Amino acid sequence: MKAVGRTGDAGTNGEPAVATYAVLGDPVSHSLSPTIHNAAFRAGRRRARYVARQVSAQECGPVLRELALKGGGGNVTVPHKERVVPFLDRQSPAVSATGACNTFWAEDGLVWGDNTDVEGFLEAWAATVDGMSGGLRALVLGAGGAGRAVVWALLQAPRVERVLLWNRTPGRAAALALQFSDNRITPVREHRDVGAEVLVNATSVGLDGRGRPVDLASLRTVPRRIIDLVYGRGPTPLCRQARELGIPAVDGRDMLVRQAEAAYARWFGEPPPRGVMARALGSQDW
Ligand code: ATR
Repeated sequence: MKAVGRTGDAGTNGEPAVATYAVLGDPVSHSLSPTIHNAAFRAGRRRARYVARQVSAQECGPVLRELALKGGGGNVTVPHKERVVPFLDRQSPAVSATGACNTFWAEDGLVWGDNTDVEGFLEAWAATVDGMSGGLRALVLGAGGAGRAVVWALLQAPRVERVLLWNRTPGRAAALALQFSDNRITPVREHRDVGAEVLVNATSVGLDGRGRPVDLASLRTVPRRIIDLVYGRGPTPLCRQARELGIPAVDGRDMLVRQAEAAYARWFGEPPPRGVMARALGSQDW
């Protein structure tokens, strides 16, 4: 599946019009997507602009289709990622498996959707486990939408021997494990005694810059790597503790850039100029 590069409808003076891409969400004004995508559009010399659009539950599907069919596209964020799926004409395996869409565009008059959060996580995983040997056990905290994308990604990732899934509400972890029916997934009630090489935080704890989903020092086996999907102004509380303990850790900024690079590649058929999005994010005052 590959998007055809496009520049929008013809303008009145024969110049191609500027295509509009948007992140659809509610609320959405805090989104960093316009900053990083507009930087990539400029660097990649695309005739396109990227905006944030606050849309209601009723609006999100029709707006998505209109943007795509006019030659643009975009992203979907909280709380509409699941809601827009019925409005797609074609969906990627990642959308089918996770029930969520974060990237859309049109090809040959059909609206396509993908979930590049999966690809973003897979790339972060590959970078994280580079240099580690043998089969790996991952402890995933959180069985909401983010947890579901992480668990499915892990089942596609190389060298994953076991996925231990913890959730504050245990029934959600059990339901998610049942949904994927892969015997490498084990829901766990208590995470302190679980031994895993990599810990992934897919809960929303830490978004406020204060809470930690787990006290790493209290774990019987301390993980060797941390992937925190949360991001904020500085390092998350979990990443701060990891660094104090000498554990390599990445936070959600890493995945934000990776999923955005994957989205750009869907729209234009090639990746954005290297490093542009990461630099745009790094220089952003937020
Ligand atoms: P998302 O799509 O971002 O995953 P979500 O579906 O609302 O959002 O899920 C949020 C996740 O964070 C859930 O796993 C939630 O646990 P519950 O299923 O028990 O609600 C988890 N979470 C939120 N606040 C938490 C807290 N204070 N401690 C532990 N887990 C928390």
